[in-house]
Amino acid sequence: MSWPDQSSLSQALFTRAQKVLPGGISRLQTLVQPFPIYAIEGQGATIIDADGVPRTDFMNNFASLIHGHAHPDILSSVTEAMHKGTCFSMPTELEIQLAELIVDRVKRVDKIRFCNSGTEAVMLAIKAARARTNRPCIAKIEGAYHGMYDYAEVSLDSSPDNWGDAPNPLAYTRGTPASVLEDTIVIPLNDSNTSERLLRDCGDRLAGVLIDPVPLSCGLIPMADHFIDMLHRVSRELGALIIADEVIAFRLDYHGAQSRFGIDPDLTTFAKIIGGGFPVGAIGGTEDAMSVFSHNQGKPPNSSSGTFTANPLSMAAGLKTLEMLDTKAYDYLENLGSYARDVVENAFSESGFNGQVTGVGSMFHLHLHDREVTDYRTFFRTEAEEKSTTELHLRLLDAGYILSPKLGGFLSTVNTRDQLDGFGDALATALAIEMPTR
Ligand SMILES: Cc1ncc(COP(=O)(O)O)c(C=O)c1O
Repeated sequence: MSWPDQSSLSQALFTRAQKVLPGGISRLQTLVQPFPIYAIEGQGATIIDADGVPRTDFMNNFASLIHGHAHPDILSSVTEAMHKGTCFSMPTELEIQLAELIVDRVKRVDKIRFCNSGTEAVMLAIKAARARTNRPCIAKIEGAYHGMYDYAEVSLDSSPDNWGDAPNPLAYTRGTPASVLEDTIVIPLNDSNTSERLLRDCGDRLAGVLIDPVPLSCGLIPMADHFIDMLHRVSRELGALIIADEVIAFRLDYHGAQSRFGIDPDLTTFAKIIGGGFPVGAIGGTEDAMSVFSHNQGKPPNSSSGTFTANPLSMAAGLKTLEMLDTKAYDYLENLGSYARDVVENAFSESGFNGQVTGVGSMFHLHLHDREVTDYRTFFRTEAEEKSTTELHLRLLDAGYILSPKLGGFLSTVNTRDQLDGFGDALATALAIEMPTR
């Protein structure tokens, strides 16, 4: 075993990293205890670590690699673009091509503005909603992750001791200005009555409602029809915009998760798969909502810019990725996701462990308890469940399988049923060993 072996190269790299990076890392998600596993190569569905250990990847860089690692067709598109220059202070045709492809697929997207990450896309969408309505407030779902913009971070990690009855808006980052909390409404997923009341209380101060159709931190539970109906009705009545965050959820449907779940957003945010493994973000929306980005009437109500925005490498990789992500590929992912959930359910029953699996399309999530998961509060893990989650994650890494640290999986078109069968056996074995209870 090379991990967590104290004489491994990963441990040596982490020792070096701690001298120059706070906590030894650049990205919280890469941290596993006692030290992160360093990657040296990814090919298809396999990542090889610094000590030469191969593992099957079901996490795909947190849902961003829809065709796995180093796909040859994506590499050749990027290589061709790269030989012509990596970034310019001029637009390129590639950004038009990628925008055309997305506009063509997603009904509620007439125009697109690119940026460099999902965080930026959400920030710009919030600012666009404010600019369009000339109002300050944003509503968001309790616990939902939308990146690192102050307002999007509110109540990201609230807990039973501070979340209140109807959700209290809580700061995630120390030192967050009180005004951020005053201008953010937090609503509970799928609780239409409470959410409607909170939205109406905000009234004509409400600029937009930020939603993820299947929030990861609510256990990948899709938004209920009654909740979507309420959001449409109340936001239209109040004159607020709906912002659908499809940074992850775009992987659920050729026409976007909004088509799958019957959501009519004014603005949509994208990132992850639309960059084909390169940094990217985008805000799309109706002609009317996106008009705030336009300079046609002078200074735009909501300016946006960025040195590497729409750079040709991200555009080339994203274009090739989405061209390859045709309806056949979506069908494959849909079937594979359902197979993955069956495999996990079988492993739970084979091992006698009281757990469950949730998810939709190409995504699945394990829960090490049998309480029904309906929102952030039921997804929220007790201390003992947290310990078992960490332990199972480590056992699976040791057995050669990569899930997210909270036990989520996001499949790619190079993941297969054979890989999932092996994973199911490893999972049953890992679950059969006693878990820490305290
Ligand atoms: C739903 C959602 N929105 C926004 C983001 C932020 O995207 P990025 O990491 O590209 O900044 C993420 C990242 O995981 C996400 O899952």
